[in-house]
Amino acid sequence: MRVSNNCNCENPLVPSVVEVKDIVDETPDVKTFYVTGENGVPFNVMPGQLAMVSLMNIGEGMFSISWQEQNDHLQFAIKSVGLMTDELHRIEVGQKLGVRGPYGNGFPVEECKGKDMLFIGGGIGLAPLRSFIKYCFKNREDYGKIDILYGSRSYADLCFKDELFDKWPKEENTDVHVTIDNPEEGWSGNVGFVPAYLENLNPDPKNKIAVVCGPPIMIKFVLESLEKMGYSDEQVITTLEMRMKCGIGKCGRCNIGSEFICLDGPVFNLAQLRNLPPEW
Ligand SMILES: Cc1cc2nc3c(=O)[nH]c(=O)nc-3n(C[C@H](O)[C@H](O)[C@H](O)COP(=O)(O)OP(=O)(O)OC[C@H]3O[C@@H](n4cnc5c(N)ncnc54)[C@H](O)[C@@H]3O)c2cc1C
Ligand code: FES
Repeated sequence: MRVSNNCNCENPLVPSVVEVKDIVDETPDVKTFYVTGENGVPFNVMPGQLAMVSLMNIGEGMFSISWQEQNDHLQFAIKSVGLMTDELHRIEVGQKLGVRGPYGNGFPVEECKGKDMLFIGGGIGLAPLRSFIKYCFKNREDYGKIDILYGSRSYADLCFKDELFDKWPKEENTDVHVTIDNPEEGWSGNVGFVPAYLENLNPDPKNKIAVVCGPPIMIKFVLESLEKMGYSDEQVITTLEMRMKCGIGKCGRCNIGSEFICLDGPVFNLAQLRNLPPEW
């Protein structure tokens, strides 16, 4: 279903000015930026929604909002991959940024109520999942058992380590399963790719929703594994990362067939994706 661009501002292309309040190093190439406007957050977001972040004289890029803390601040976990993101990694606390949004449909938090949740992430793909994971913890009585399966190339590349190893395992009725691609000195956890670990854990599909985000190759094999394990297309949700420019359905950069990822997505269940041309 097509939704509006969700932007509650007068002109959806005009960014709000925010200030960077804190910067946390997550991995050698991922930092989390805590930003806030003059009167708190520039807009309210739901888990899985996005914003266009701009750095004056450099450019802008679309990023998942990895968490909104009340009316206090928004968090973006950003990987350094090119011109704008490299520059973002060089800024300091106090820097002013532009932020416009929120965009996208977000995760179906209402439809998932009463279900057991299985979050499957790889690399920076944990950033959008984190907003839904933290939302479930905040509304704990609405969701059943929570399993988080997350993998990265190495220990250093795992994002949000304090939550993964300390905070989330202490949450009620929650299991966190972490894997890295290759053995490392000092690592006693699982070694291997996410899809193989998923098949080893073999979580029962009964009353469960799987939410998947990561590099395209991981998503492809995870979807195959879930199907093998008996998950129906309606039980599998993923979020797509297409190149975007306007974020509001005007530029035609992000469409797959008739769907615009910025308006209709980025969150889809597998049944919806199977109705699209196979470009995702
Ligand atoms: C819906 C959505 C959510 C996203 N969420 C996050 C997030 O939470 N954290 C995060 O770090 N990044 C996220 N991204 C990706 C982010 O937008 C890009 O990494 C960023 O715009 C790159 O800008 P740049 O100028 O640094 O890189 P550029 O100099 O433009 O490009 C560097 C390299 O990255 C490739 N690239 C750039 N953008 C994309 C893209 N969107 N998809 C695939 N390849 C790309 C280019 O082809 C090039 O090889 C998201 C993108 C979308 C569309
Ligand atoms: S980003 Fe412009 S149409 Fe979607």
